[in-house]
Amino acid sequence: IFIFMCLYSIFSHYATGINFDKYDDILVDVSGSNPPKAIMTFDEAGLCESLRRNVTKSGYVKPTPVQKHGIPIISAGRDLMACAQTGSGKTAAFLLPILQRLMVDGVAASKFSEVQEPEAIIVAPTRELINQIYLEARKFAYGTCVRPVVVYGGINTGYTIREVLKGCNVLCGTPGRLLDIIGRGKVGLSKLRYLVLDEADRMLDMGFEPDMRKLVGSPGMPSKEDRQTLMFSATYPEDIQRMAADFLKVDYIFLAVGVVGGACSDVEQTIIQVDQYSKRDQLLDVLKSTGNERTMVFVETKRSADFIATFLCQEKISTTSIHGDREQREREKALSDFRLGQCPVLVATSVAARGLDIEQVQHVVNFDLPSSIDEYVHRIGRTGRCGNIGRAVSFFNPESDTPLARSLVKVLSGAQQEVPKWLEEIAFSAHGTTGFNPRGKVFASTDTRKGGSFKTDEPPQASAPSPAVAADDEEWE
Ligand SMILES: Nc1ncnc2c1ncn2[C@@H]1O[C@H](COP(=O)(O)OP(=O)(O)OP(=O)(O)O)[C@@H](O)[C@H]1O
Ligand SMILES: [Mg+2]
Repeated sequence: IFIFMCLYSIFSHYATGINFDKYDDILVDVSGSNPPKAIMTFDEAGLCESLRRNVTKSGYVKPTPVQKHGIPIISAGRDLMACAQTGSGKTAAFLLPILQRLMVDGVAASKFSEVQEPEAIIVAPTRELINQIYLEARKFAYGTCVRPVVVYGGINTGYTIREVLKGCNVLCGTPGRLLDIIGRGKVGLSKLRYLVLDEADRMLDMGFEPDMRKLVGSPGMPSKEDRQTLMFSATYPEDIQRMAADFLKVDYIFLAVGVVGGACSDVEQTIIQVDQYSKRDQLLDVLKSTGNERTMVFVETKRSADFIATFLCQEKISTTSIHGDREQREREKALSDFRLGQCPVLVATSVAARGLDIEQVQHVVNFDLPSSIDEYVHRIGRTGRCGNIGRAVSFFNPESDTPLARSLVKVLSGAQQEVPKWLEEIAFSAHGTTGFNPRGKVFASTDTRKGGSFKTDEPPQASAPSPAVAADDEEWE
C-alpha cells in the first residue's frame, strides 16, 4: 500500500482543461538556422520505454506546442531560447529530451562518490520552484538509473551534500546554494552537457546575472560551445534577450509560442480602479464572490503579506502566507496547506509569482499591482494552466500604478480582454508625460536577432526589477 501511495503521489496530476486543444491554434515562430521539424505526438519523440510510460502515467496524452517544437530542437543538440505562455508545459519540454539523452547514453547508474559529476544542471529563481522542477524530474525519471537531486537555501547544507554525494545526474538548484556546493568541490562540471535556465529572463536580470556569470565561469564548466544551454520563460525583455546571447551558441534557436511576454489567454483579466484605503474592503468583496475556490493574493511587500494575511484570518477567511523572510519550513508548510486546500487563500509576494504549478488555483488577485508588466504576466499565470480557465482581478490605484497603465492595456488587448475605458484614458494621458512607463515596450515581438537595430527610446535599465521585487524573490544562500 505504501508503495502504491508513493506511486500515486509521484504521478498525481490534474486534468487538462477545456482549452487544452486550443493551444494548437497559437502561432509559433521558430527562428535560427535549420530548425529541426516539430513532432506531433509523444511517440514521435522516440522516448525510451520507461520514459514513455512515465509520460503516460503523468496523464500527458499529446504534447503542447512548446513540447512539439522544443523536444526535437533539444534532441538535435541545439541551444534554445524558448518563450511560451504560463502553464503551457515548458518544464517537460526540457526535462524529457534531457532524460532521454541520458538514458540513451546509459549514464552510469548513480552511486556514492566524494565528487559528483552531473550531466545536467537546472537553475530557477526560487526554492519552491526548483523543488517543483526536481519533483517533475524525479517523476519522469522514475524507474530509470538517472538520479535527480535538488539543492536550495534554507535547508541544512550537510543534508543537501549527503544527498548529492549519493549520486547525481540532474542537479536542480537555486544559484546561491548551487555555487556553494560547486565551490566546496562536491560537484565537478567536467561531464556537464546541459545547462538549463528556467525563468531565464529572471535568471539573467540584475539580481541573478552575477551568479549566472559565476556559474558559467566555474572551474571545469564546459564552454558554451561544449555544452547545450537551454532557456525557458513566458517573458523575455529585449535587452535580456540580447544579453542571453552571451550564454548561448551563435546559432541558437529562438522559439516563440504566441506573443513573447503575452498573458495566458485562458485567464479572464479584470482591472478595478481603487484607492489605497478601499483595497481591503474590495478584497473582502472579491473573496466573498470566490467562496472556497483557491485564490492567490499578491502584495508588494513582505510586511503587507503578513498584514493582509492577519486581516483575512480575523475576517474568518482561512488564509496562509508566503514570503522571503519566512523560515523555509514555514514557506513549505504554507504552500502545502494551500496546495491541499486546507487554506484556500494564499497571500504571497513575488516569491510565488513565477513557475509554481498548483492545482485548482481558480483565482489570482493583485492586491498591489507589480511595477513590471512581466511580473504581472507571471502572477496571473498561476491560474488558467494547462487549458483550464482562470480569473485574475487586479486593484489599480492611479496614484501608484499609472506607470503600468500602457503596458497593462497592451497585455489586456493582446489576450483579447476588455480594456476599461478609464484605464485607456490613464494610459493615453500617461504617455509622453512623467508617468511614462519605461517598461512600456514590453513585447519583444520576436527574436531580437531578426531586427538588427533597436529603437532605443527607452532607458537601458528597462528590465531592472523594482527594489521590492528584487528584495523578495532572490536566493542568496
Ligand atoms: N502535454 C501535456 N499534457 C497534459 N498536461 C501537461 C502537458 N505538459 C504539461 N502538462 C501539465 O501542465 C501543467 C503546467 O506545466 P508547466 O508547469 O511545465 O508550465 P510552464 O509552461 O512551465 O508554466 P510557467 O510559465 O508558469 O512556469 C503541469 O501540471 C504539467 O504537468
Ligand atoms: Mg515553468
